[in-house]
Amino acid sequence: MEDAYSIHGGKPLTGNVQLSGAKNAALKMVIGALLFDGKVTLNNVPRIRDLDELLHLFTELGATAEFIDANTVVIDGTGLNTNTVDLLHGSKIRSSFLLFAPLLKRFKEAHIPNPGGCRIGARPIDRIMNGLKELGGVVEYDHATGYYHGKLAQKTHGTYTFEKPSHTGTEFMIMLSVFAEGTVHIHNAALEPEIDDLISFFNEGGAQIHRDGSSIIVNGVTSLVQKKPYTIVSDRNEAVTFAVLGLITKGDVTVGPINPELLSTFILEVKKCGGGVEIINPNKIRFHYIGPFTASQIETEPHPGFMTDWQQNWVVLMTQAQGISTVHERVFENRFAFVSELQKLGANIEFDTTPVPNAKQYYHFTYDPEKVYKQAIKIYGPQQLHSGVLTVTDLRAGATLAIAALLVPGESIVNGVSILERGYERFVEKVTELGGDIKRL
Ligand code: EPU
Repeated sequence: MEDAYSIHGGKPLTGNVQLSGAKNAALKMVIGALLFDGKVTLNNVPRIRDLDELLHLFTELGATAEFIDANTVVIDGTGLNTNTVDLLHGSKIRSSFLLFAPLLKRFKEAHIPNPGGCRIGARPIDRIMNGLKELGGVVEYDHATGYYHGKLAQKTHGTYTFEKPSHTGTEFMIMLSVFAEGTVHIHNAALEPEIDDLISFFNEGGAQIHRDGSSIIVNGVTSLVQKKPYTIVSDRNEAVTFAVLGLITKGDVTVGPINPELLSTFILEVKKCGGGVEIINPNKIRFHYIGPFTASQIETEPHPGFMTDWQQNWVVLMTQAQGISTVHERVFENRFAFVSELQKLGANIEFDTTPVPNAKQYYHFTYDPEKVYKQAIKIYGPQQLHSGVLTVTDLRAGATLAIAALLVPGESIVNGVSILERGYERFVEKVTELGGDIKRL
């Protein structure tokens, strides 16, 4: 099979989309399941490539993970029998470093390859590994092998303040602290709702984790035991992709189940630029075309701001808006690799490299004043895009290129779609159900 989609665009997409479970909650929860005594059942687990990779790693570590129906997995970490994560599979997934938590709990020492994931900027884990050290652990990186070697002999306690909030970093600190000797305080923690989903999952199993704004307080417990299956929250990023598809194709798409509050910043921007939004009920949102879009000015931020994962989809929408739109990426460096692909379709987008004041504070990555960054773009719209042959650069960019191809009449080929499928479940089927003409080659 080719790693590509053939898309004939130009049709309005209409209908309902049943959202899948959130990738960025599911990956962490299946790892968190290894901290429990006995079996853990998770519902609404998305069948995506990143998850398949991770569950493959589980079997190599001696744990079991079995799907008992399409989206329900039963995980049992009882049989964990090695403290070394395989280089090939471990390095493919960003979240694999979270395996430190269950492996350190079981073996006191663990070896994990430098995490992979989408190549969006350097994505170091320095701030996260500092957290492990702050809780009394030791961690060393071996440049020759690409492995992190970690040790955590005693039970944890203490305080850790993130220099800048980190989504997965916050989850890592929570996982390390669940069995603390006393209390662990995590300050300047990230606010993403997927983290709160993970906290609820642990608390249902007996953990004592409390959020107080950007601080998280963990009172250690001795064990976690699941009492009833846990259902993973819906994927906000998937909701945004289908919302943009409905709007840009002059269609009408309803997404759910999703709490509209989790998308409030996105909804606000859609309304501001002239898109139609209707909150149908506390779990369903309709996005529909009501007239020409107008330009917008976006800066990405961690939750509750405009998410970095939404900007790529937003950029293609803004190619259809009247005026000059701007998007400034503050969270990750190098998250505009897809721009050159959109330019192939005739998009009029240029980079704005004007330095910002206080760049070290402004950006969430570690800013190096010696480097030239391409963090901001201007989009001149509206532009009539045409079909073309495109290559996916990273996960969210993959959805963006598919959106562009579904907008334009004629056949487009999108290459490298296995990257998109790392995070979108049944993408082809869902688009087809909305009336889109898309085939996997
Ligand atoms: N950072 C460091 N050092 C660290 C940790 C983070 O420099 O030790 C930097 C990162 O390089 C980045 C910024 O801090 O520039 C924020 O990173 P964060 O740790 O918050 O992001 P993440 O946990 O790596 C998760 C999601 C991303 C999502 C962001 C923001 C997962 C597996 N990934 O990344 O999702 O964009 O949070 O919410 O949960 C995606 O789904 O496509 C995706 C990239």
